[in-house]
Amino acid sequence: MRYQTTAIHGGRGDDSGKGAVNYPIYLSSTFQQDNMTEFKEFVYSRGNNPTRASVEELVADLEGAEHALAYATGMAATSNVFELFQKGDKILLNNNVYGGTWRFVSNLFQRRGISYEIVDDFNTYDFAGVTPDVKAVFLETPSNPLLEVTDIRRVSREAKERGILVIVDNTFMTSYFQRPLELGADIVVYSATKYYAGHSDILAGLTVLHDDELYNKLRFFRNTTGGVLSPFDSFLLQRGIKTLPLRLDKHQSNALSIAQFLSDHEAVEQVFYPGLKGDKGYELQRKQASGDGGVLSFLFREKAYDMETFVENLHFFGFTVSLGGVESLICRPATMTHESYAKELQEKIGIRQNLLRLAVGIEDSEDLIEDLRQAFEKAKK
Ligand SMILES: Cc1ncc(COP(=O)(O)O)c(C=O)c1O
Repeated sequence: MRYQTTAIHGGRGDDSGKGAVNYPIYLSSTFQQDNMTEFKEFVYSRGNNPTRASVEELVADLEGAEHALAYATGMAATSNVFELFQKGDKILLNNNVYGGTWRFVSNLFQRRGISYEIVDDFNTYDFAGVTPDVKAVFLETPSNPLLEVTDIRRVSREAKERGILVIVDNTFMTSYFQRPLELGADIVVYSATKYYAGHSDILAGLTVLHDDELYNKLRFFRNTTGGVLSPFDSFLLQRGIKTLPLRLDKHQSNALSIAQFLSDHEAVEQVFYPGLKGDKGYELQRKQASGDGGVLSFLFREKAYDMETFVENLHFFGFTVSLGGVESLICRPATMTHESYAKELQEKIGIRQNLLRLAVGIEDSEDLIEDLRQAFEKAKK
């Protein structure tokens, strides 16, 4: 089965004997056992639930992976992976990651005795200098919010030689556009709240991997800490995945049209989108992914245009955090998604106050461009 067919026919088939075309929602916290010695596949829903198992199998199949685990949120997935590390370990991460991930690293690592190093550019980073305490690389590519592209093959090769795990947050791409495991990564993390679920209605997280030992550890930690995806949300996630390829194609073509429009507009200083020919990640993105996604950021020229007037006059771009839903959204990372970064660090890595991030939806691109154009006109000083 190819990707789109798996998206629709993957996961578990109805096992109730009733012929339902959608896998049922098993709203049961616990499952009766037939005898006292041998337990069945499902015992208690924190450990395993049929509806969750169905979507996990689907996600693993889509990525050609051995295993997938579903969580209550993307941060529950990321936290679950961070449980693999302990006192004395060190993690390398790229310099712009989702603000919630940064909040975890900059607050909870210290309490756990884990250290970290922020790497400005993994594409040129000299791995020969890493110390033996480095146990993992955590990266996002394209990154949030600056859409920087990291060479997953290079990082994985260098890391593997040194026994370092590579963890990729693939939220912006999904397995439809990019498969980090095929490029050498060990664990892929997702906020499935975004494109996988696709309708801004649920929170969900995923991890995807091949390795049995790591999988058993993650499963044990998840059962212990409890951040599992509910049966109802598992159903909604599986439903969302059925249209993932269709939606992503449209998100992406809309995003490219908007990126091109913004690049030519005098209210815009710079556009960050790897699908734009002039973007510094353009070539690399073509080598490791089959698409560029639906998120882009741009620097607003505040000297000539008023940013507040612009944002407040948009009709189709909701001013809020998040991405990956069918509707378009706009946010200011410095005060919203990435407010957990200290001001100086934001400045240093380029998350400026006049940076706006667009999560481009699947509306008609001409309506979206018209909307941006009229808001810029109103905002002209
Ligand atoms: C790249 C990325 N990773 C992880 C997360 C966290 O996911 P969640 O909000 O589902 O906990 C987000 C949320 O915005 C994100 O954008």
